[in-house]
Amino acid sequence: MADSNPDPMRTPICDAIGIDYPVLQAGMGMIAQAELAAAVSEAGGLGVIGTGLSMRPDELREQIRTVRGVTDKPFGVDILFATVRAKGSSVASYTDNVQGLIRVTLEERVPVLISGLGSPRGAVSEAHERGIYVMSVIGAERHALKAVNDGVDAVIASGRDGGGHVGEVGTAALVPSVVAALDVPVIAAGGLADGPGLAAALMWGAQGVWLGTRFIATAEAGAHRNYKAKIVDTGSSGTVVTRAHSGKPCRMIRNDFTDYWAERESEIQPYPRQALEVGNPASTRGRLEGDAERGVLPAGQSVGVIRAVEPAGDVVRAIVEQARAAIAAAAGL
Ligand SMILES: Cc1cc2nc3c(=O)[nH]c(=O)nc-3n(C[C@H](O)[C@H](O)[C@H](O)COP(=O)(O)O)c2cc1C
Repeated sequence: MADSNPDPMRTPICDAIGIDYPVLQAGMGMIAQAELAAAVSEAGGLGVIGTGLSMRPDELREQIRTVRGVTDKPFGVDILFATVRAKGSSVASYTDNVQGLIRVTLEERVPVLISGLGSPRGAVSEAHERGIYVMSVIGAERHALKAVNDGVDAVIASGRDGGGHVGEVGTAALVPSVVAALDVPVIAAGGLADGPGLAAALMWGAQGVWLGTRFIATAEAGAHRNYKAKIVDTGSSGTVVTRAHSGKPCRMIRNDFTDYWAERESEIQPYPRQALEVGNPASTRGRLEGDAERGVLPAGQSVGVIRAVEPAGDVVRAIVEQARAAIAAAAGL
């Protein structure tokens, strides 16, 4: 018999990937490593190892094994599917490093593979043969349609409110439009960090949330304590979208770095030159060395509702509890 009062926290994607709660932790290069992913998964969400631009295949294998040493629950790997075109060729193929990351993810049968950038098309069929669930992060409806065409099982619609690289459309407009356009599950992202945010995402028709900034401000995140403190101290209008990091629009905390480049817009190089010459060293200064003024500190407008650095498992549990309360309150229960 159908349950007349189904648990709103148990959306179909929870059963599809074997998690207890629809709280997914975003893959973030250097920040979302094994310790964070394991803590989120162990608490019943989906923890994700972010390979970013620098993780090598052998490091990824170690990270996967570290997660498995802590939890037997499902987790994911987020890969930026960067491509190169050989000289004189019209066909682009994944870089050697990306091919290595894909190989490790498939060999280790990681339960969920996420494409944070580019098309995962070349990995989807082999992933499916191994029972791996595939998702793509997208920032526009047309990219969502393309991802479905590539064969992904679900899309993560990340709006302009979010941290890191962003598209044009805000989360509250993007998510319902992507839900309406697709037949596959949609996960909401961008500027969401708490239980009311999860409740709202479910109302938009999403099956869960994918949270980046919220999980930077956790004990297990691989970020300098000054970066975490800055997220806690910054209000919702304290971020800006700038091309200063990579040459592409990226939301980060406003500081001396962003102010410097705001006066030199015309000197910002196209992607990837700006990243190589300016953004990557500034990222290391911000994320790892804790220079909160001269470094790059990507963060979403969600900073406004983040009040403390907490253990990641507590964050997952609090979001679920608050979302249940928000849904009950809205229903007048
Ligand atoms: C520091 C930082 C690094 C990120 N790196 C990645 C990445 O490597 N791969 C990816 O898919 N998304 C990355 N993102 C974007 C997230 O996937 C997500 O879209 C975004 O964090 C959602 O907004 P929120 O930060 O407000 O939760 C990053 C975001 C941040 C803040």
